[in-house]
Amino acid sequence: MYKLLIRPFFFLFDPEKIHHFTFSLVKFLSKIPGMLSIFRGMYQVNDKKLERNLFGLTFKNPVGLAAGFDKNAVLYNELANFGFGFVEIGTVTPKGQVGNPKKRLFRLKDDKGIINRMGFNNEGLEAAIEQLKKNKGKIIIGGNIGKNTNTAPENYTEDYVTCFKGLHPYVDYFVLNVSCPNVSSHAKLEDVDYLKELITEVQKIGKELSVAERSRSKPILLKIAPDLNNQQLDEIIELVAETKIDGVIASNTSVNRDNLKASKKRLQEIGNGGVSGQPVKNRSTKVIQYLADNSNKAFPIVGVGGIHSEKDALEKFKAGADLVQIYTGFIYEGPSLVKRINKAILAES
Ligand SMILES: Cc1cc2nc3c(=O)[nH]c(=O)nc-3n(C[C@H](O)[C@H](O)[C@H](O)COP(=O)(O)O)c2cc1C
Repeated sequence: MYKLLIRPFFFLFDPEKIHHFTFSLVKFLSKIPGMLSIFRGMYQVNDKKLERNLFGLTFKNPVGLAAGFDKNAVLYNELANFGFGFVEIGTVTPKGQVGNPKKRLFRLKDDKGIINRMGFNNEGLEAAIEQLKKNKGKIIIGGNIGKNTNTAPENYTEDYVTCFKGLHPYVDYFVLNVSCPNVSSHAKLEDVDYLKELITEVQKIGKELSVAERSRSKPILLKIAPDLNNQQLDEIIELVAETKIDGVIASNTSVNRDNLKASKKRLQEIGNGGVSGQPVKNRSTKVIQYLADNSNKAFPIVGVGGIHSEKDALEKFKAGADLVQIYTGFIYEGPSLVKRINKAILAES
């Protein structure tokens, strides 16, 4: 039904407008009595065999919604009824910011992909906190955090720390997003020495907060780009070993435009931005495989990039992912994708 009726209609309109329309539609439908239980009946697969215990958290299934979809944490309570095992909100920055000028989100239909240069548009930390206070506790929430576009390099850490402290009481795990291709001064966020400093500082604050709150330390993950070469991936493996950060999310969108079906002219018209969806699938899987093989599977990996079918998800698990996330596949395939993946995991187990 989604691919036959809803998607063709949605794809007639501007992608960003449809994104907002979908949010309003889901909010509206969710207020109709009985609707959420209909969604649950349609999309949830409840089975103990799907449960995963990682970083001290119990995920009811290993399929999550990737960051960037619910940037402002306004829809996670409703999305909890669509079969996900976890939802990652953000990227949240300390101050709200409008992001890059529109248009900044483009479908590559023939490639089953998306190019975006949203530029961390979000309402900011305080707005996210207000939304997270409404958490109905139905699902694990990840807090994906970043820096404001205008922040000077010497203050990057402060931005991450501000978001970390602010979201700490409200999310179950954290993601340090250091891999958005649409963020300025990207070089510093690729510098392993800086990453070590950043991770160590956030971990130190995490420990202090957990003592003050008398709770366990909240897991912290690092989200990396699919465009890192093997030497850079070796450095990430070393970084994880040294800092003992809880895990890695592989991967973000890609700056690579090789082998796209979209014409050169179309890509030029679109301009800068990160590619997601099917075109990044294999590269993301290779990164997962490399990290798993070369670390002797020393740390948990969340696999994301181009999952549009149950087969794509199983490939990520086989490569070494412990959990998976989807974004572009959710747009192209609709919510039944989550259920199909969970069913396929059960069939394999
Ligand atoms: C429109 C759009 C916005 C995104 N925004 C963010 C973001 O704010 N933070 C982040 O860490 N990743 C963001 N991502 C990246 C996704 O979380 C994911 O890592 C990437 O798209 C690859 O997965 P996919 O192929 O399933 O989309 C965004 C992706 C898209 C398509």
